[in-house]
Amino acid sequence: MKIFLDTAHVDDVKKVVPLGIVAGVTTNPSLIAKSGRVFEDVLKELTTMVDGSISAEVMSPNAEGMIEEGEKLAEIAPQITIKVPMTWDGLQAVHHFSQKGIKTNVTLIFSVNQALIAARAGATYVSPFVGRLDDIGEEGIYLIEQVASLFRTHSLPTEIIAASIRHPMHVTQAALAGAHIATMPYSVVKTLVEHPLTAQGIAKFEADWNNRK
Ligand code: E4P
Repeated sequence: MKIFLDTAHVDDVKKVVPLGIVAGVTTNPSLIAKSGRVFEDVLKELTTMVDGSISAEVMSPNAEGMIEEGEKLAEIAPQITIKVPMTWDGLQAVHHFSQKGIKTNVTLIFSVNQALIAARAGATYVSPFVGRLDDIGEEGIYLIEQVASLFRTHSLPTEIIAASIRHPMHVTQAALAGAHIATMPYSVVKTLVEHPLTAQGIAKFEADWNNRK
């Protein structure tokens, strides 16, 4: 399973890129608003830092508007992936983009049928939201398991991005459930790297080393 960063803060990306684990970045309108920066500026900067897919979400409610916005965003760089909401209009836009060779990420997926339809419309990626399903008492990881099984059974090439990842167990479970990618904030990446026993072990080795004869 590949690791994407779910952020519009370029400083977060800067911290993780040297580890060589960042295969892509996802942004969303809330993350862009939180960054306090101009959308296109953030995207341009991200394209200089990461080689892989960078998701940029369109905001128009209708297919024509999404297509216009998406085509402009796609001009920034070939790795820009147009993030489209799972709606009737969104699917029309995805179909259009797929015929033009523009990558898409269908976002706000909450059911297996939504994932199937998005894949059939030609989505490059689908993003089932694990944490938001957990928030309403459903099991987000079960959705990842089911979508992964469906895509395997029917040889669908669309990749699954496990999104709305809130903690390290989500990452482990998404990987075991068959997600191709998990997108997560910097705070979650930190929990994947650090472990109290590792820190304790280093401190002990250091103390013993300093007390050697
Ligand atoms: C995914 O592409 C979304 O940007 C993100 O994972 C949503 O996460 P949240 O539910 O924690 O806001």
